[in-house]
Amino acid sequence: MSKIEDILTRYRSGSHESLIPILQDVQAEEGYLSEEAVVNIGRFLGMSTTKIYGLATFYDQFRFVPAGRIHLRICNGTTCFINGSGKLIAALKETLGVEPDQPTRDGRFSYELVACMGGCNDGPVVCSGDSFYTHVRAEDIPEMIKKLKVLADLK
Ligand code: FES
Repeated sequence: MSKIEDILTRYRSGSHESLIPILQDVQAEEGYLSEEAVVNIGRFLGMSTTKIYGLATFYDQFRFVPAGRIHLRICNGTTCFINGSGKLIAALKETLGVEPDQPTRDGRFSYELVACMGGCNDGPVVCSGDSFYTHVRAEDIPEMIKKLKVLADLK
């Protein structure tokens, strides 16, 4: 039994109100919502994939491409933006060579832009797993990525 089939056994077939919990469970298990997963969920719930994508894209929490082994969350809330998150994001884009929400070719990294993480006084803020980096500047990015590569290679 595939992981997705296993998740679906916890829910009632045809129950549209189970969509969001199912999507959350699949993403928690797989890291993202693959096309195959969406098709299987649609079949199980009796919903079109178009409707599922339409609802899922309404929520920021869902990803449709796999994340890198190290996934960074960059605060682009108002205070961090005023404190330079734009330059930080540009540096990250240049260093990693990818846009937000896309994994790097080697699968090591991905990053997403998020709203306020509650650390405005210490912004710009970057989060990787349980680690928070504060007062991050664009010039810190190459060194940060170099150190995180070591962690990515251990995963
Ligand atoms: S705006 Fe970035 S932590 Fe609040």
